[in-house]
Amino acid sequence: MSRTIAASPASQSAPQPLTYPETVDAMYAHLRRRLADVVPDFELRQQAEIAVEVNRLKAERNAVILGHNYMEPVLYHSVPDYTGDSLGLSRISAEVDAETIVFCGVRFMAETAKILNPSRTVLLPSPRGGCSLAEAINADQVRRLRAKYPEVPIVTYVNTYADVKAESDFCCTSGNAAAVISTLRDQGHDQIIFLPDEYLAANTAAELGLPFRVEGAASLDESPEPLDPGTIIGWAGRCEVHEQFTVDDITAARQQFADVRVLAHPECSPEVIEASDFSGSTTQMLKYVDQTNEGRLMLLTECSMGDNIASQSPDREILRTCSVRCPHMNEITLSQTLEALRRTRHVIKVPEEIASRARVSLDRMIATG
Ligand code: 13P
Ligand code: SF4
Repeated sequence: MSRTIAASPASQSAPQPLTYPETVDAMYAHLRRRLADVVPDFELRQQAEIAVEVNRLKAERNAVILGHNYMEPVLYHSVPDYTGDSLGLSRISAEVDAETIVFCGVRFMAETAKILNPSRTVLLPSPRGGCSLAEAINADQVRRLRAKYPEVPIVTYVNTYADVKAESDFCCTSGNAAAVISTLRDQGHDQIIFLPDEYLAANTAAELGLPFRVEGAASLDESPEPLDPGTIIGWAGRCEVHEQFTVDDITAARQQFADVRVLAHPECSPEVIEASDFSGSTTQMLKYVDQTNEGRLMLLTECSMGDNIASQSPDREILRTCSVRCPHMNEITLSQTLEALRRTRHVIKVPEEIASRARVSLDRMIATG
C-alpha cells in the first residue's frame, strides 16, 4: 500500500450516564411503565430484584455497564449506564475511567472495549456471545488477501475478532462505513477491501456509487482479475439474522399497511435495502424513529430492538418479526450479568502484540464520521 492512511475527525458530545431506581419496588414500577405491554408482570417483579442487585454491585465494584441496543428489554431498561450501537459504545468504552467494564453485547464488542481501554477489566456476561460475521474470516485469510492486492487498503467491520483487526488498516461500523471509505478515497486510495460482511460492503458501495465484487475462501488462490476504478472488494460473510429478511416481507407489509415506513439495518441484502425507506445502524434507526412523525414503522433488524423502541415510543405502531432474535445477543441476561459482576468472570483478554496493532485501526474508526 503506497499512501498513508489517516482518520478524519468526528465531532462528538459526551453522553450522560443513565440512572435507575434503587429499591425493588421503584425498579418494578419503572419497568412496568416501560414494559407492561411486552413482558409479563410476574417476570418484571423477579427481574426487578436482580436489576437492583446488579446496580448495587456495580457501584460497589466501581464498574460501568455498556448495553448494546439489541439487549433484551428488561436488561436494556434497568442496568446499562450507557446504551448504543457499536460505534457509540466503542467511543464510550475508550473513555471509561471506572475499574471494570461489563459489556452487555457480544464478544467482538467486549474485545474492542478491551483493546481501546487496556488498563480496565472487561467482562462479557456469557462465555459465548459470538457473531456469524466474526466467524466468517480469520487473520490468515486477511494476510492472503493483502498478498493478492498489495496496494489496496483493508477496512474491517468491527464485527470481527482482534487478530483480524490487527491485520487491517482501518476499522468501521455500519454507523460510519461510508465515511471511512470516503476518507480513504479522499486520501487517494482508489480500490478498497472491505471485510467481512458482503451485504454491508455492497450496500456501502451502492450508497457511494462504486463498483463492487466479492472474494471468498475459494477465490483466494486465484490470480487477481483486473478491477474497475473505485472497486470495493468485499468478502462472502453474512449476518445470520439480517440475511433472513426478504423483499417479500416488505411487499407483504406494504400490502397490509399502505402507510408503513420500512427501516432496515445495512447488514440486510442490497435488494432489501433498495426496497426499504431508510437504512442505518441501530442508533441511526432509533434516531429516525425519535425524529419522524410517521406513525407506522417496520424494523428489519434484531427483534429485541423493536421491543426496546416500541417501549420508548408508545405512540407509534412498530411492526417487527418477533422470531428473528440474534442467538448470540440472546446469551446475555440479567442473571448472567449479576454472576459476571459477583465472580469477576468471563474476563476478556487480548494479547498485547495483537491489541497494539488492532488499536491503530480502531483509533481510526472512533475518530471518523
Ligand atoms: P450496530 O453497530 O448498528 O449497533 O450493529 C451491530 C450489529 O451487530 C448488527 O447486527
Ligand atoms: Fe452478529 Fe448478526 Fe448477531 Fe449482529 S445480529 S451480533 S451481526 S450475528
